[in-house]
Amino acid sequence: MVIGSHGQGNDSQPTGSSVNRPSPRSYPPIPKMGLNRDNAMMIKDEASGSPECLPDEAVPHPVCQVVLGVTGGIAVYKAAEVVRRLRQQELAVQVVMTEAARSFVHPLTFQALSGRAVRYALLDESAEAGMGHIELARWAQQVLVAPASADFMARLAGGHADDLLTTLCLATEAPVVLCPAMNRVMWRHEATQANRRILQARGVRLIGPDSGAQACGEMGEGRMVSTEEIVHAATAHYHGALAGCTVLLTAGPTREAIDPVRYITNRSSGKMGYAMARAALEAGAEVILISGPSLLEPPWGVQQVAVESAAEMCEAVMDHVKRCQIFIGAAAVADYTPVQAAIHKLKKASQEWQLSLQRTADIIGALGSQRAAGAPGPFLVGFAAETQYLETHARDKLQRKHLDLLIANPVNQRGLGFDSNDNEARCFWPGGECAFPRQGKQQLARRLIVLVAQLYHKAHQLQSAARPSVS
Ligand code: C5P
Repeated sequence: MVIGSHGQGNDSQPTGSSVNRPSPRSYPPIPKMGLNRDNAMMIKDEASGSPECLPDEAVPHPVCQVVLGVTGGIAVYKAAEVVRRLRQQELAVQVVMTEAARSFVHPLTFQALSGRAVRYALLDESAEAGMGHIELARWAQQVLVAPASADFMARLAGGHADDLLTTLCLATEAPVVLCPAMNRVMWRHEATQANRRILQARGVRLIGPDSGAQACGEMGEGRMVSTEEIVHAATAHYHGALAGCTVLLTAGPTREAIDPVRYITNRSSGKMGYAMARAALEAGAEVILISGPSLLEPPWGVQQVAVESAAEMCEAVMDHVKRCQIFIGAAAVADYTPVQAAIHKLKKASQEWQLSLQRTADIIGALGSQRAAGAPGPFLVGFAAETQYLETHARDKLQRKHLDLLIANPVNQRGLGFDSNDNEARCFWPGGECAFPRQGKQQLARRLIVLVAQLYHKAHQLQSAARPSVS
């Protein structure tokens, strides 16, 4: 435990807002692709002995014909790498560039990498005789726009059809995925945010933007997500896997008051929980994020409930849990709280000071017990941060708390776990396990959400099959 005091920077957070959810999409039947070797290692199903234990039918199939839209921005150079990586995964990639994008990089680069002539003219005589914009719109199984500039988002939101890319997006029935990239002030501008909301409400998926150093020299939100994340989003068994589901998440630490200025807390930053919230949102879920004190901005589109103590977190969870199908406990909830918080600041007196603590309620444990006793309840995903005997502790928590999935993270290595940007995970569920190697938390969260969706859909199918049919 860490004993901290107020005034160290972790102030209260704004309440997030919810947005209209996109309607679930269906995907065309296309060839199956296996799990990428980097996505999940060591998948093992003890019940069936099969190396790939999760039902492929449970989530939609990946796409294999991608139109990659490239709009004008310094991040254009990263799009070239995206093409190369998509081609390595044997996806057919047709690049469509806007005029501004061609000012940054010559189309020849994309032609060489994709093996196809780049398209940019709306009224192109040769193309209209062959693959015109409507045929291109039909050919696409996914339209991925990376980078997506503020201007492109505005034109798409406005329904413009004055160049090939906007026209294609209007004419296609394939999912449209945008990877925004722009200066942080432009991203935060109400006009851009209004366009984002319009696009999301229409079913357009946004990946990112990320936060960090920007090409313009500023720091903030607006950077295009990494090539790896874009490629993963375009290829994984992922799209809309949680459409129609409400996911309730806890994240961050809790603060247990000793007196008005002192409290007990832990090293959790909330990064993993917030990354899970963002990944669930991207997978089409409605997300309610109950967060302890964290410096992080809640991802756009999640409904955030800010709490401080374990008791407040417990109360907020119980208030919202009936609405959700999946509960993910990513918070590092304090296990103990002072028996009584002093009303006034305690004054130092003797050399030693004994503080009486009592156990907090085990939130996820209580949900698990209720379900084990026969009450209806959500699919339960717990996290465990361990410094030793990771598997033993993880399996114990899975069983004792009646969970459907337990995600265990080692936190005894430098640069992993609490307050760091990377994590690795070993996942255990009744009858199976898998492991994800060290990677960025957001990337890992997206992969974990794939697993959550697969197990959730599998459990759902089993439940429906067990239910007596009504004749
Ligand atoms: O027992 P332990 O705290 O290691 O269990 C971790 C899991 O239990 C996490 O999913 C955490 O969010 C959850 N938990 C909880 N309520 C508590 C303590 C932990 O929901 N009071």
